[in-house]
Amino acid sequence: MNGGLIFGACLGLASCSPAVTPPPLNGATIGGPFSLIDQAGRHVTNRDFAGRYRIMYFGYTSCPDVCPTDLQVIGAAMRSVAKEAPATAKRIVPVFVTIDPARDTPAVLKTYVAAFGPEMVGLTGSAEEISRVAKEYRVYYKAAQPDPSGEYIVQHTDQALLFGPDGKPIVVLPIANGAAAVATTLEKWVQ
Ligand code: NI
Repeated sequence: MNGGLIFGACLGLASCSPAVTPPPLNGATIGGPFSLIDQAGRHVTNRDFAGRYRIMYFGYTSCPDVCPTDLQVIGAAMRSVAKEAPATAKRIVPVFVTIDPARDTPAVLKTYVAAFGPEMVGLTGSAEEISRVAKEYRVYYKAAQPDPSGEYIVQHTDQALLFGPDGKPIVVLPIANGAAAVATTLEKWVQ
C-alpha cells in the first residue's frame, strides 16, 4: 500500500476514511442457525455465540491425521493471538463440530478438544441435525465400511472458516499454511 497515493486521493475531501476491504466470503451463503450439544452436555445454539467470532471446523475425534493436525494449527494460532493481541483472542471461539456423532459423545469431545486449547468448544448432536448443519456449512462427509473390529474412517471436508459476531462468513483460514498464517489472518479480520 502506497501511503503517498492514499494521501493524494484524499486531498480536497472533507472527510476521508481508508477504503474498507470487504471480507473474502462477503455475501456467501455459508452457515446458519444450529442446535447442538457441547462437550459439557449443554444445549447450545448459534445464538450462544452472538457477538463473538467463531472458527468453525468439522471433523471427528477418531480421525487419524488430518483433524489433529488442523486442530493443533488452530490451537497454536489462538495461543499466538492471545500473546500478541489478548483482547482480540478473547473475541474468538474455536468450534469443533463432529461429523461422527455416533462415536463422538460429549464426554469423548471433552477430552479431545481440551488437548487443543482451553477455549475450544466441541459440538455433537443427533445424526439428523449434524447432517443438516454440515450441509449449511458446505461440509461433505462419508463414513467408510467398518473394519472387522468395528472401527471406521470418515472422509470429510477439511476446512476452517471464520464467522463474524453476526454469524456471517468472513474468510477461509489458511490452516494448510500453518499457525502463523492463521494468526495473521485472524488478527486481520477480527476487530
Ligand atoms: Ni479429520
